[in-house]
Amino acid sequence: MPDVLSAMEGFTGGREFVASLKVKVMKRSPKAAQEIRKSSEDSAARFVPPGGSLADLKRAAATCKGCDLWKNATQTVFGEGTSRATIMLVGEQPGDQEDLKGRPFVGPAGRILDDALAEAGIDRTQVYVTNVVKHFKWAAAERGKKRIHKKPRYFEIHACRPWLDCEIQAVRPQVVVCMGATAAQALLGKTFSVTRQHGQLVESSLAPFATATIHPSAILRAPTSEMRHQQMRTFVNDLKQVAQLAMRRAA
Ligand code: URA
Repeated sequence: MPDVLSAMEGFTGGREFVASLKVKVMKRSPKAAQEIRKSSEDSAARFVPPGGSLADLKRAAATCKGCDLWKNATQTVFGEGTSRATIMLVGEQPGDQEDLKGRPFVGPAGRILDDALAEAGIDRTQVYVTNVVKHFKWAAAERGKKRIHKKPRYFEIHACRPWLDCEIQAVRPQVVVCMGATAAQALLGKTFSVTRQHGQLVESSLAPFATATIHPSAILRAPTSEMRHQQMRTFVNDLKQVAQLAMRRAA
C-alpha cells in the first residue's frame, strides 16, 4: 500500500477514510489497484485457526506465509509465556539469536530485558513476551557473515497483526507494554513518541491498560556507559510502575 495511505490509517477515523480512498484510487489506476489488493491479501489472517489456544496458534504460525519475511528467516518466533499473564511485553521482531533458537528475547536484548525485569521485581515466567512481527528481517553485512537487522515495513507489521491480536485474545492481559517505537506506533498510534511518552498509561482497546517503554536494544546501542545506565534506569522505572499496576489489578 502506498506509504501515505498507511500513515493516514493511524489517525482517528483513518481506517474508514483510507478504505474509501482506496476504492477511488483503484478505480483510477490499475497499478495502484494491484498494489492495494496485494497488501490486503498478504496477511497472516488466513493462517489463524479460529478460537485457537496459544499452543494451536503457535503451531499454525510455524507455517505462516502471510508476508514474504518467512523466506529469509529460519523459523517463526511466536510469543512465549503463560496464558494467565497479567503483563504482556511486546517488542519489534526477533533478532538473530531469536531466529536461530525460535524463542523471543533470548539474545543480547533478552539479557537486558531479564536484568530489567529482575530489578523491577517481575518474574519473567509470569509474563507473556512477544513481538509485533514474528519473523526476523535482515540483510547480509557487506563483509562477513553477520545478519543485520532491518526494520519491518508497515505492510509487514500489518500482515503479522492477526497473530498478536490472537495472542492478546488468548491471554487477556491487564497491561500491554510496548517496547520501542515500532511496537508503540503499531499498537498505540503512529504519532506515539517513546522518548516523550514512555511510562504514560494510555487508553487502548487492547487491554485495560497500555503503555510503552524503551526497547532493550536501544540500551545496548547507547553511545556511552553513562547513557546506557540512564536508559536502563528509565526502563526499570517504567517496568516498576507496570509491576505495581499489575499487582493492584490482581488484588
Ligand atoms: N528484539 C525484539 O524486538 N524482539 C526480540 O525477540 C529480540 C530482540
